Parts: sequence; C-alpha cells; structure tokens
Amino acid sequence: MTWLITGGAGYIGAHVARAMSQAGERVAVLDDLSSGVAARLPEGVPLVVGSVLDREVLDRALAELGVTGVVHLAAKKQVGESVEKPLLYYRENVHGLTVLLEAVVAAGVRSFVFSSSAAVYGMPDVDLVTEATPCLPINPYGETKLAGEWLVRATGAAHGISTACLRYFNVAGAARPELADTGVFNIIPMMFDRITRGERPRIFGTDYDTPDGTCVRDYIHIEDLATAHLAAARRLAERPGTGDLTLNVGTGRGVSVQEMADLIGEVTGRPELTAETGPRRPGDPARVVASNALIAGELGWSARHDLLSMVTSAWEGWCLHHPQAPRP
Ligand SMILES: NC(=O)c1ccc[n+]([C@@H]2O[C@H](COP(=O)([O-])OP(=O)(O)OC[C@H]3O[C@@H](n4cnc5c(N)ncnc54)[C@H](O)[C@@H]3O)[C@@H](O)[C@H]2O)c1
Repeated sequence: MTWLITGGAGYIGAHVARAMSQAGERVAVLDDLSSGVAARLPEGVPLVVGSVLDREVLDRALAELGVTGVVHLAAKKQVGESVEKPLLYYRENVHGLTVLLEAVVAAGVRSFVFSSSAAVYGMPDVDLVTEATPCLPINPYGETKLAGEWLVRATGAAHGISTACLRYFNVAGAARPELADTGVFNIIPMMFDRITRGERPRIFGTDYDTPDGTCVRDYIHIEDLATAHLAAARRLAERPGTGDLTLNVGTGRGVSVQEMADLIGEVTGRPELTAETGPRRPGDPARVVASNALIAGELGWSARHDLLSMVTSAWEGWCLHHPQAPRP
C-alpha cells in the first residue's frame, strides 16, 4: 500500500506524513509548496512538487509511485481570505479536488481520506456537535469543505472507493518545533503574536452564554490529529468498498478563550499580560465542541495529549520562528 499525501509539506500534512511513515506505511507527498516547506518532510519520503490542479502531474505521480490510497490535505485554509477571494477558494479546494478525484478514479486508487473541517457546521447551537448536526457553513472556506465532502462521497459510492471525511476541530501544537504552524490565523498564534510584541492578548466578546462569557472551542493536538489519519487510512485499506466514514476529530472537551489566554500567559512566562477584552466579532459561534463518540467507536481513536503539552509545543515552535519572542 502506498499513500500519496497531498499538501504533505504543510503544517498538518507534515505531521500526517511523519505519523504514517513512523508507523511503517509507505508514503509520498505531492505539494505545490505555495505555503508548504519541503524541509518539513520526514527523511526518505519522496516529494513531487506540483499542484492538484495539474492532471498530468497527478497521473504521472499516481502511476510512478504505485499509489493505492490518497490522503488529501492540499487546500487554502484562511476563512477571511475565502470571503475576499471566493473564486480562488472554489478553484483550489473544489475544482482541485475534482481534478484529483478524476485522476484517482482513472488510476484505480481504492482509498481516499479527505481533510474536512468543523467549519462545515457553521454556527452550531448544540452542546456537543455530532456528525448529524446540520451542516450550515457561514463562509466560502466552510462551503468548499462541505462541497468537498459531497464530491468525495459521491465519487466513492460511484467508483467503489472507500472514503473518510475527517472534520477537524481547532488544531494546535507541534511534534517538533520545526514542524509548527507558522501562520497567524487562529487564536493561539494570534495571542503569541501579541505577547511577542509586548502587548496584551485580545478576547473578542465576554457576553456569550458560556460559563465565563467567552467563546468555547475544542482544541486538538496535532499529534492526535495525525494518528486519527493513520487510523482512518488503515481502516479504509483493511475494509475496501465499505463506503464512507465521516468523523469529527476533536477531544470532546471545551476550553474557553479566557482559559486559553490564562494558560498562554503561564506558558510564555508573561502572566502579567492579561487579556484585554473587546466586542464580539461577527461569525463567532459561542461554543463549538466535538462529540467524539463516533470516531472512538469506529476507529478506537481518542485524543491522548493534554492542553498544556499542546500550548507548550506550539510556543516552542513559535519561538523557533520568532527569535524575538520572550523566553520564560
Ligand atoms: N489548520 C487547521 O486548523 C485546520 C482545521 C481544519 C481543517 N484544516 C484543513 O487541513 C488541511 C491542511 O491545513 P494546514 O493547516 O496544514 O495548512 P497548510 O497551508 O500548512 O498546508 C496546506 C498545504 O497544501 C499545499 N497546497 C495548497 N494548495 C495546493 C495545490 N493546489 N496543490 C498542491 N499542494 C497545495 C500547501 O503548499 C501546503 O503545504 C487543509 O485542507 C485545511 O483546510 C486545517
């Protein structure tokens, strides 16, 4: 079995490539390096530099590498940018997936794991989000992930490909500092960024219907997310033709933004930089926490890393890329 990991030079893809190759799976990566970094790849993992929009590159890579399964992570992922550039997001995330699936069908690939997101749920008004919670995305990024799931399931059903759509909740942490996320697009790096500038982290909205009034999220350690991919990939390979598995990947534990700000203050050694509070931002649901019952039952997977190791490893990665950051 050879797995092609698209977007494998990215933050999550590199962790997935590492977890799968360490577990003994044969993996290769296809990445256009638009935001990925070749040096993130584990030693010995071949890299094909090219886009999922390029059918010729895909056909050649699938044939020459003898690919039997694909883990598709290549995508654009910034919500705000997706509002400004919806056509780019639909082209990369939906059209790119269509081209990839055409190549997968033509090459006779039997297993396909798709990188989806909790963004498909939009503003869920439930205590725990299950896979049956209605999908009502509120931005083009979430729409492209939901459309991607439809494409993956329909193609799998029509062509006998086993598929898994993994809906990640809030991903953070790093297996090693060099593998850390370098973007500043979600709450943890945004708070690190403020602290690095000697500024207080910001909290948007303190009047939500949550225990401390700030938004509650489900943070998943990147190493746990990577093992979820390994478990899903192995399940698809073991039971070909068993249809689709659509699964939340979260911990089931809610953490408030205030709790996260306090923990970040401790980990960075700047507890005096207490968070400053401001008004709500539009489009922020009060609480988004995964039910992980389905993935536990289907794959026997559950998260093993705690919040402290997640934030500590994310901070070590941040410091590597931002030498001016204060060290505790
Ligand atoms: N980071 C998160 O919190 C999060 C949450 C939910 C879902 N996701 C999804 O996980 C996946 C990976 O996200 P990430 O955080 O690692 O982002 P990332 O930007 O670090 O990784 C994306 C990778 O895909 C590559 N890529 C982009 N467009 C490509 C194309 N057309 N052809 C080939 N390669 C291409 C990039 O170079 C990069 O290496 C994405 O599909 C994203 O939507 C991420």
